[in-house]
Amino acid sequence: MKNTFGQSVAVTLFGESHGPAIGAVLDGLAPGCAVSEEAIRKQLDRRRPQGNTGTHRREPDPFQLLSGVYQGKTTGTPLAIVIPNTSQRSADYENDGAYPARPSHADFAARCKYHGFEDRHGGGHFSGRLTAALVAAGAVALDILKGKDISIATHIARCAGIDDAPLPLEDPAALAALGEMSFPVVDRLAGERMEEAILAAREDRDSVGGILETAVLGLPAGVGEPWFDTMESVLAHMLFAVPAVKGVEFGAGFALADLRGSQANDPLRVRDGKIVTTSNHSGGVNGGITNGMPVTFRCAVKPTASIFQPQDTVDLTTGEETTLHLKGRHDPAIVHRAAAVVDAVTALTVLDLLALRYGTDWMAG
Ligand SMILES: Cc1cc2nc3c(=O)[nH]c(=O)nc-3n(C[C@H](O)[C@H](O)[C@H](O)COP(=O)(O)O)c2cc1C
Repeated sequence: MKNTFGQSVAVTLFGESHGPAIGAVLDGLAPGCAVSEEAIRKQLDRRRPQGNTGTHRREPDPFQLLSGVYQGKTTGTPLAIVIPNTSQRSADYENDGAYPARPSHADFAARCKYHGFEDRHGGGHFSGRLTAALVAAGAVALDILKGKDISIATHIARCAGIDDAPLPLEDPAALAALGEMSFPVVDRLAGERMEEAILAAREDRDSVGGILETAVLGLPAGVGEPWFDTMESVLAHMLFAVPAVKGVEFGAGFALADLRGSQANDPLRVRDGKIVTTSNHSGGVNGGITNGMPVTFRCAVKPTASIFQPQDTVDLTTGEETTLHLKGRHDPAIVHRAAAVVDAVTALTVLDLLALRYGTDWMAG
């Protein structure tokens, strides 16, 4: 089950970066849910490298729905999505038999685990390329949630030390617009400065990281399975599966450590007959269960590991120390492309936890 996640709605991921194809199998969906190929295409386009800030690898991501869909609706049987690899250049990873491990990539760790049987070209099974399959599966989940008035919005809260404006939680149109952007920011000028910083990093043959901030709106109170399958724990599990995510915090997160209880607590009030909190430092989760407020969290995305400066490493063929001079096509930043991936894993997780509470037929009703 190592490549499968979820209890009621489960996703299985397969493929290697330079193999014939990558893909995902989505199991546990109710029959009768609408599946929009256009919506899948839209999410895949958000994840694809775009413009100057992306890698020069062109990934058109043509996908095929192999099973589980009939006349535009789920059948209730496993839904398989396959995305052929069409833009791989394995020659970039051939070094006349030498195998210099790429620092802060999975090369050395995977060698230890798979004893050299791993397909290392382009990062193999560990490549960010596999996130395309996650995004395609997540697009189906996003659409099902949308049908239940549950929406997910992610923006680049910070990139290269430049901050975006806060998420406009009271403005549904502005939140929805983020889902249409390949570089999702609230403040356009901040976004331009971030893109300039990414290009400057590229000029220096370097890379930058950032923070993604996400809000899930419309979730009913009472979702999450304590102790071990809480909304926070299951989301964190999936968010840490996204390559390059190295930190996750919910609500005010690490900042809570510096507050007094009087500052950190979220007071309860009644508004329009509904119990709400007047602040949301808890990120919409108490005791691992949703409280009806937006579920909010932030993911730290590290700078792209593949940089074009010489780097100290070890040749895994000879065991000798060496210097890596990288070839290939790599983004000077990943944070903007990871936004679609975060939305996808969030949708898959939320759908799974909702199905644990309400069953699966609820999805299509
Ligand atoms: C959408 C996406 C694209 C990525 N593309 C690259 C890339 O072009 N170059 C790179 O060094 N890392 C890329 N990564 C990140 C690496 O896959 C990741 O850092 C590496 O596998 C090691 O895993 P870790 O950072 O989680 O430890 C990408 C990640 C995502 C989410």
